[in-house]
Amino acid sequence: MTAPKTILLFGKGGQVGWELQRSLAPLGKVIALDFDSKELCGDFTNLAGLAATVAAVRPDFIVNAAAHTAVDKAESEPELARTINAMAPGVLAEAAQRAGACLVHYSTDYVFDGSGDQPWKETDAPAPLNVYGATKLEGEQRIADACPNHLIFRTSWVYAARGGNFAKTMLRLAKERERLTVIDDQIGAPTGADLLADVTAHAIRSIAAQPELAGLYHLVAGGTTSWHGYAKFVVAHAQQAGVALKTTVDTVDPVPTSAFPTPARRPHNSRLDTGKLQAAFGLTLPDWQQGVERMLTEII
Ligand SMILES: NC(=O)c1ccc[n+]([C@@H]2O[C@H](COP(=O)([O-])OP(=O)(O)OC[C@H]3O[C@@H](n4cnc5c(N)ncnc54)[C@H](OP(=O)(O)O)[C@@H]3O)[C@@H](O)[C@H]2O)c1
Repeated sequence: MTAPKTILLFGKGGQVGWELQRSLAPLGKVIALDFDSKELCGDFTNLAGLAATVAAVRPDFIVNAAAHTAVDKAESEPELARTINAMAPGVLAEAAQRAGACLVHYSTDYVFDGSGDQPWKETDAPAPLNVYGATKLEGEQRIADACPNHLIFRTSWVYAARGGNFAKTMLRLAKERERLTVIDDQIGAPTGADLLADVTAHAIRSIAAQPELAGLYHLVAGGTTSWHGYAKFVVAHAQQAGVALKTTVDTVDPVPTSAFPTPARRPHNSRLDTGKLQAAFGLTLPDWQQGVERMLTEII
C-alpha cells in the first residue's frame, strides 16, 4: 500500500481550482490556497512567499491553477501578467525540484499563432500573438528548465458551471435580443474545468507509478467548433429545455473576429491535438458537446 500523498493546490477559487478541490480530494491530503490565504502564502505576486510555502509543506505534488487569465487586461499590465504567469510558476518549479515534488501546471492554446487549420501538436513551434500567450509560454519554459518532474497541460476555452462563462452570457443576451452576432473564424474546443480536474487526478495517479510520463500535453475536449457554433448549440439546448428566448438558432449571425476589435489579438486556429495525452494516460476525451450539455443542464 502506498502512503497518502500531500498535494499543494494554488488558485483554489478559479474555475479549474474549484474543480480540483473535488477531484484531488481522494488522492491524499490537499492543502488548497488562494491569493489571500492567511497561514501559508498563495499570492503569486509574492515570489519569496511561494517558495517558503513549498518549503514548509514539502508536498509530493504541487498543482498550480492560479493564473492571470484576463487576456485583454494583460496587454496593459504585462509586468503583472508576467509575474503571475511566468515568474511565479518558475519559482514553484525551483521549489518543487528542491522538495522532490512533481509540479502540475496549465497552459494555453494561446502559445500558438493560430495559423493553418490543423490541430497543433506539442512539438509544433509556439509563437504567441499576445501578452497572455507570451507570459504563459515563458511559464512553461521556466518549469521545464527548473523541474523535469512536471506535467503541463495546454488547454483552451475553459468553462465551468460556477462563475461567469460564455454560455451564460449567450443565454442572457438571447433572452434580451432577437439577433446575436458571434465570431465564427476562431476554432477550438470548449473544455470543462471538471474534465481538466478529473484528467489531472488521473494523471497524478499515473505519474506516481510511472515518472517517465512527465512532460507537456495538450488537453481539450474532443471535436472542434467556433464561438458561433458554440453559441448556436447553447441556444438550441436552451430552446429544447423550454427557456423563453428572443433569439433562435437561425438568428445567431456569424461574424469575423475583425467585427469585435479587442486589445489582445487572438489565434484563429486553436485546435489542439490530444493524441499524446490519450495514448500516454489511456484516456478517451469526450466530445465538447457532452460537457457543455451537462453545464447547461446545471445552470438552466
Ligand atoms: N479560462 C480559459 O479559457 C483558459 C484557456 C486556456 C488555458 N487556461 C489556463 O487554465 C488555468 C486555469 O484557468 P481558469 O480558467 O481556472 O482561470 P480563472 O478562473 O481565472 O482562475 C485563475 C485563478 O488565479 C487566481 N489569481 C489571480 N491572480 C492571482 C495572484 N496574484 N495570486 C494567486 N492567485 C491569483 C484568480 O483569482 P481571482 O479570480 O480572485 O483573480 C483565480 O482564482 C490557467 O493556467 C489558465 O491560464 C485557461
